[in-house]
Amino acid sequence: MGHPKLWGSLLLVVCCLSLVKSGFGFACNWGTRSSHPLPPDIVVKLMKDNGFNKVKLFEADPGALQALGNSGLQVMLGIPNEFLAPLASSVRVAENWVAKNVSYFISNFGTNIRYVAVGNEPFLNAYNGSFLQSTFPALQNIQAALIKAGLGRQVKVTIPLNADVYETSNGLPSGGNFRPDIRDLMVNIIKFLSNNACPLTINIYPFLSLNADPHFPKEYAFFSGNAAPVIDGSISYTNVLDANFDTLVSALEKNGFTSMPLIIGEVGWPTDGDPSANKANAQRFNQGLIERINRRQGTPKRPVPTDTYIFAIVDEDAKSIQPGNFERHWGVFNYDGTIKYSLNMGNGKQLVPAKGVQYLSKQWCVMSPQASLSDPNLPNSVAYACDHADCTSLSYGSSCGNLDAKSNVSYAFNAYFQTMNQSSNACKFSNLATISTIDPSPPNQGNNRDACQFGIMIDTTKKRHLARPPRTSSGTKLRIGQNSCWYWISFLLVPSILIMKN
Ligand SMILES: *[C@@H]1O[C@H](CO)[C@@H](O)[C@H](O)[C@H]1NC(C)=O
Ligand SMILES: *[C@@H]1O[C@H](CO)[C@@H](O)[C@H](O)[C@H]1NC(C)=O
Ligand SMILES: *[C@@H]1O[C@H](CO)[C@@H](O)[C@H](O)[C@H]1NC(C)=O
Ligand SMILES: *[C@@H]1O[C@H](CO)[C@@H](O)[C@H](O)[C@H]1NC(C)=O
Repeated sequence: MGHPKLWGSLLLVVCCLSLVKSGFGFACNWGTRSSHPLPPDIVVKLMKDNGFNKVKLFEADPGALQALGNSGLQVMLGIPNEFLAPLASSVRVAENWVAKNVSYFISNFGTNIRYVAVGNEPFLNAYNGSFLQSTFPALQNIQAALIKAGLGRQVKVTIPLNADVYETSNGLPSGGNFRPDIRDLMVNIIKFLSNNACPLTINIYPFLSLNADPHFPKEYAFFSGNAAPVIDGSISYTNVLDANFDTLVSALEKNGFTSMPLIIGEVGWPTDGDPSANKANAQRFNQGLIERINRRQGTPKRPVPTDTYIFAIVDEDAKSIQPGNFERHWGVFNYDGTIKYSLNMGNGKQLVPAKGVQYLSKQWCVMSPQASLSDPNLPNSVAYACDHADCTSLSYGSSCGNLDAKSNVSYAFNAYFQTMNQSSNACKFSNLATISTIDPSPPNQGNNRDACQFGIMIDTTKKRHLARPPRTSSGTKLRIGQNSCWYWISFLLVPSILIMKN
């Protein structure tokens, strides 16, 4: 005889056990295109303190991989697109990559590498087909190399793709199929992944839907259910993430893949550099996302939860701004691990900031009081500063977009000065600049959360207690296409859903 209460508690115990076993937690992206990256051990602690147990890296950064050793975090390790051609050309290159960048860290540091992400959105339309030939052979060579290294079971391969690899014929998710120019290639890749029990990874950006089309119904970007639903047969869609993801599920079904494992490789919302990139929107979006993840909610066509890597843990001031000025502001945290906005991570647990961060001195570089706005050297000085430092917060609709002309110049000078580690030579600008110990940030009347801040950089010279392995990457900054550039293009499909309906 069933005793309802007993069965109830048994069920609860079983559920809890399986949760513990599957190690529930959040997943995020960790990009390191920063002039002043946080020390890797501080980032690892920041992720752990906030309940993240999975992280995706864009390249094999030795400092990050070492700090992640024995941390309890699972790692998805990315391979930049520039490596696809060499990896495709020879299995020996792939074996060497796996030996130096995977096996080495697993055996020496206990880094829990679970996925290798081959390329980053390699089939993006904007790449003009540059990686169409090399991606699949590179994937196959990496897979062969992992098997040869004895890691075939432990480490799975995947390819993170932009949502522009699929489109819809009827403006609705049910009309989803792969882009005709790459359909055969996609089918072959998915067959290969499926045969090897490997997932497909897709990056989905509701922010870019809103950003690409001024008529995009804003509510549809969030998860609050206030948007007028889009009806697709028996399913109503109230947010773009569901609709976009299910377009992929339909594309997979149409090509015979009914249970392909999927991962959402990037999703997030930036806080600056664009009128819709602000803390209120980012908080609203990410809070909705966190709640979905906590509820283990899937989409109408794929009700099982999908691992979802939030983009990103911290801001990166040296990323390419080709996609837009918002590109350097995707962090849930500021570049230094301070909190941008609160998030309830579940059960009332609030975000906690990074600990142990060291800062440079409290000094700023500002436009000298004697200098004139009509000085002929001024435009070039500002242009130079902004070429070598991050001025994206000065753009229209951004946190410092309303500064008066002098403060605007000061902001640019200070950004350069801080990026150059406050070197006194970096605050000259043909005698137009001077160092000040008074914070030049405008007074924040009304507690505007997006108020303009004149920053101070962190001190990254402090020796950390980590024996670093030899660096294998040159740490080049501003390489285009490290993270997802151009992804906004793909979301044109989603506005079309609504245009069709209206
Ligand atoms: C390991 O990865 C790094 C970063 O992507 C790269 O610079 C390096 O060449 C790789 N090592 C090998 C042996 O391929
Ligand atoms: C792709 O082609 C366009 C137009 O020809 C060009 O402007 C762009 O620079 C190309 N992009 C790449 C990554 O080759
Ligand atoms: C502020 O500086 C930025 C970057 O140099 C420039 O694009 C913008 O036009 C400036 N705005 C004002 C009001 O001077
Ligand atoms: C600033 O200091 C850090 C730590 O010493 C160093 O790695 C970095 O290259 C410096 N940046 C500049 C522009 O000098």
